[in-house]
Amino acid sequence: SSSGSGTKPKVFVSRPDIPKAAMKLLEDKFQLTIWTEPRPVPRDFLLQNVGGSDALYCLITDKIDKELLDAAGPNLKVIGTMSVGHDHIDMPEVKKRGIQVGFTPNVLTNATAETTLAVLLAASRRMFEAREELLNGGWAKSAWGPEYLCGQELTDSTVGIYGMGRIGQAVMKRLKAFDVAKFLYSGRSAKPELKDEANFVDFDTLCKESDFVIVTCALTPETKEIFNERAFSLMKPNCVFVNTSRGGTVDQEALIKALKTNQIFSAGLDVMTPEPLPLDHELTKIRNCVVVPHIGSATYKARTDMAVTTAKNIIAALEGTPMPAKLC
Ligand code: DGY
Repeated sequence: SSSGSGTKPKVFVSRPDIPKAAMKLLEDKFQLTIWTEPRPVPRDFLLQNVGGSDALYCLITDKIDKELLDAAGPNLKVIGTMSVGHDHIDMPEVKKRGIQVGFTPNVLTNATAETTLAVLLAASRRMFEAREELLNGGWAKSAWGPEYLCGQELTDSTVGIYGMGRIGQAVMKRLKAFDVAKFLYSGRSAKPELKDEANFVDFDTLCKESDFVIVTCALTPETKEIFNERAFSLMKPNCVFVNTSRGGTVDQEALIKALKTNQIFSAGLDVMTPEPLPLDHELTKIRNCVVVPHIGSATYKARTDMAVTTAKNIIAALEGTPMPAKLC
């Protein structure tokens, strides 16, 4: 749908179900073209309708590559992605064309840290299996048993965080309340400000020594499938593996093997490959794997703040003022 006068800058919005507070900001200032259905905009529709846009409001489900940028044409000044992750955007290509990119760090940190704890606890305390037992009669058969549905405990454990950025640190802060004995972290570089809280270690040490391995890094060429067969083979048999970053950081076949052979204890995944996961996918069938559908930032508060930040990023870029959250 289009509205407004032809003199206003044109903004393509790739979903209709954007929190209202953000839509209002955009409607007041721009001529909007909005994909009408609450599902990802089909590639063809996007390619055919993005032409001439001054700005693009997109989500992680929209692949922003050379073809798309060509289709958008030379008017495109800014891409506002309603996400902190930006692996769906061809950044070198965007930079080459001098297009600005706004994103949404900070506002989703707490929500994503909460989800990380939720899947961690669900995987370590076998919550999905427990529900299954309740519903399929398993509980009635074994009743209270000394080792029935036993899991792993955070108390006195070693927690390893891969990618100690905003979200990794928010996870650590919350896990401190569980009396974790030691925090390790690995990633691009040591953070001196964390020297009293966590030890910076190499990747192999993180895998070998952690009772819980938590992945909160960005997906980059360096982190792509870094959790591979070798990494899982280093982990302890009691290890709980948690991923709330991107599925692409994991060699999923290797993870499936590690879970099936009990090389590691369990996994809690908010992200995987592909997304959405086909109903009959092996990951949905593995007893010791908790899978949820990429809900890391899915709180009303975070999503509203993400949407408003995205709108403000676009407004700022088109009005020539500093973006609240500029990626490039
Ligand atoms: C992001 O922002 O990158 C998440 O994956 C979705 O909130």
